[in-house]
This record gives sequence, structure tokens and C-alpha cells, in this order.
Amino acid sequence: MSSNKELRLALYMAAVLFVVGTVCYAAFPAKKHEQPVRIMFKTLAGKVLFDHKAHTSEKGYALSCQDCHHHPEGDDASASACGECHINSEDKAPAPEKCLECHDSGDFEGVALTKKTDAFHQQCDNCHEKADAGPREKEKRCNWCHNM
Ligand code: HEC
Ligand code: HEC
Ligand code: HEC
Ligand code: HEC
Ligand code: HEC
Repeated sequence: MSSNKELRLALYMAAVLFVVGTVCYAAFPAKKHEQPVRIMFKTLAGKVLFDHKAHTSEKGYALSCQDCHHHPEGDDASASACGECHINSEDKAPAPEKCLECHDSGDFEGVALTKKTDAFHQQCDNCHEKADAGPREKEKRCNWCHNM
């Protein structure tokens, strides 16, 4: 093949890839904050599998988004990962970049947030307790979520 032909072939391929890329981009736009179906947490105490669908579908436990994504109130569209606000810092400082999406820095000055891991344990377990879910004994409860 002459280098002229090679060049033409390369240009042709580039044009095709450009069209394919543009069509795909238009057809499947990146969805911001799509709700993940399942989330696997890899923790020091073993893996925890959280199933959104089981918790939210009518055939499952039919919870509303707000039962967990509590802040801000009444706004399912802004549901975001707990860890974006609750961070594992000793001083329990909130995540400023996240808060600043909606607040002025003065709004949350001096506010202390539950640490990430505690926030999970508190929210998950409080509800399970009310729902009378899983075993009662503390040691067995751990294994209900954590797979060692
Ligand atoms: C039983 C509690 C619970 C319910 C109900 C729930 N979620 Fe979640 N959701 C979670 C947890 C836990 C995470 C993971 C948070 C993390 O890793 O910090 C999460 C993560 C998310 C994320 C973040 C994805 C990311 O990585 O940024 C979105 C978006 C989301 N949920 C949307 C929804 C929507 C919409 C509903 C209602 C249809 C809903 N969730 C119902 C607990 C729940
Ligand atoms: C957009 C920021 C934001 C996100 C995302 C968020 N939280 Fe919170 N959370 C807060 C704020 C602010 C407070 C303290 C004020 C309040 O209670 O509303 C709080 C308080 C809490 C508390 C303590 C409540 C109490 O009664 O003492 C728990 C537990 C908690 N969050 C768990 C979670 C869990 C689990 C998730 C994810 C499913 C989550 N949070 C997502 C901002 C957030
Ligand atoms: C998506 C927008 C949004 C984000 C992100 C957000 N907030 Fe808020 N926040 C609100 C709205 C709206 C209100 C008033 C209504 C309500 O309480 O839901 C509010 C109220 C509050 C209040 C006073 C009432 C209460 O619930 O105690 C505090 C404190 C607060 N936010 C702290 C925070 C902190 C800290 C963060 C970051 C970790 C944060 N917020 C992130 C929208 C947001
Ligand atoms: C607002 C209530 C509520 C919250 C919050 C909640 N759950 Fe659940 N969860 C339930 C109910 C109800 C069941 C069903 C209990 C039963 O069948 O006895 C359940 C069942 C489960 C199960 C059993 C297996 C399955 O998927 O069906 C696991 C594991 C689980 N939850 C993990 C979690 C984790 C991890 C969190 C926190 C990130 C969480 N849940 C938060 C209500 C909740
Ligand atoms: C309702 C489900 C649930 C139960 C019950 C539960 N955990 Fe967890 N645990 C979680 C989730 C979800 C995380 C992930 C939190 C995170 O990413 O910070 C976690 C994280 C942890 C971590 C890891 C922190 C890290 O930095 O990796 C430890 C340690 C832990 N749990 C211990 C326990 C012990 C001990 C018990 C029993 C007393 C228990 N958990 C019961 C859901 C649960």
C-alpha cells in the first residue's frame, strides 16, 4: 500500500469513528447520579451488599428515597451518596464542597455531622430494628450485613 492510500484509509476510519462516537454520545447521554441497583461496600469487617431494588421496589420493602436520602427534605432528584456529605473525619466536620452546592459557608458553620460509618450503622440498623428485621442479638446482627 502506498502511503497516500494509507493516509486516505486513516482519514476514512477517523471520519467513521467520529460519526459513531457522536451518535453514541447523543443516543446515550451520561446520566448524572443514576441510582445504582446494588452497592458492594468493602469494609474492614468484610463485604456488605446493599440492594437498592430490594429496598425500594413495590415487590420489595417499598421504601421511599427519602427514607434514606434525607437531606434536603422532599427532593428525590438531589439524592446523592451518603459519603458525599458524611465523611470519616474525627472532628465530624461536614464535606464543605458538597454543602456549598446549596449553602453559603455560614449556614453550616459549627455543624457537626455523624461520621460516615456511624451514619450507615445508625440509619440501616435503626430501620431494621423497627422493621423487626434480622436477628436480635448484636453479634449475629453484624453477620446479617457483613460477609466475613
Ligand atoms: C434503604 C436506604 C436507601 C433507599 C430507600 C434509597 N437509597 Fe439510594 N443509596 C443508599 C445508600 C446506602 C447509597 C450509597 C451511599 C454511599 O456509598 O455513600 C445510595 C446511593 C445512591 C445514589 C448515589 C450514587 C453515587 O454513587 O453517587 C443515588 C443517586 C441514589 N442512591 C438514588 C436513590 C433513589 C433515586 C432512591 C429512591 C428510588 C434511593 N436512592 C433509595 C441508600 C438508599
Ligand atoms: C446532602 C448532604 C447529605 C447526604 C447526601 C446525606 N446526609 Fe445524613 N445528614 C446530613 C445533615 C446536614 C445532617 C444533620 C442535620 C439533619 O439531621 O438533617 C445529617 C444527619 C444524619 C444522621 C443523624 C440523624 C440523627 O437523627 O441524629 C444520620 C444517621 C444520617 N444523616 C445518615 C445518612 C445516610 C445513611 C445517608 C445516605 C443514605 C445520608 N445521611 C445522606 C446531610 C446529608
Ligand atoms: C442539594 C442541596 C443541599 C445540599 C447539598 C446540602 N443541603 Fe443543607 N439544606 C438544604 C435545604 C433545601 C435546606 C432547608 C430545608 C431542609 O431542611 O431540607 C437545608 C437545611 C440545612 C440545615 C438546617 C436545617 C436542618 O436540617 O437541620 C443544615 C444545618 C444544613 N442544611 C446543613 C447542610 C450540610 C452540613 C451540608 C453538607 C454536608 C448540606 N446541608 C448540604 C439543601 C442542601
Ligand atoms: C428505612 C428502612 C431501612 C433502611 C434505612 C435500611 N434497610 Fe435494609 N431492610 C429493610 C427491610 C424492611 C428489610 C426486610 C427485612 C425482612 O425481610 O425481614 C431489609 C433487609 C435488608 C437485608 C436483607 C437482605 C435483602 O437485601 O433483602 C440487608 C442485607 C439489608 N437490608 C441491608 C441494608 C443496609 C446495608 C442498609 C444501609 C445502607 C439498609 N439495609 C438500610 C429496611 C431498611
Ligand atoms: C444493617 C447493616 C449493617 C450491620 C447490621 C452492621 N454493619 Fe458494619 N457496616 C455496614 C456498612 C454499610 C458499612 C460501610 C460503611 C462505610 O463505607 O464507611 C459498614 C462498615 C463497618 C466497619 C468498617 C469501617 C471501615 O472503615 O472499613 C466495621 C469495622 C463494621 N462495620 C463493624 C460492624 C460490627 C462490629 C457490627 C455489629 C455490631 C456491624 N458492623 C453491623 C453495615 C452494617
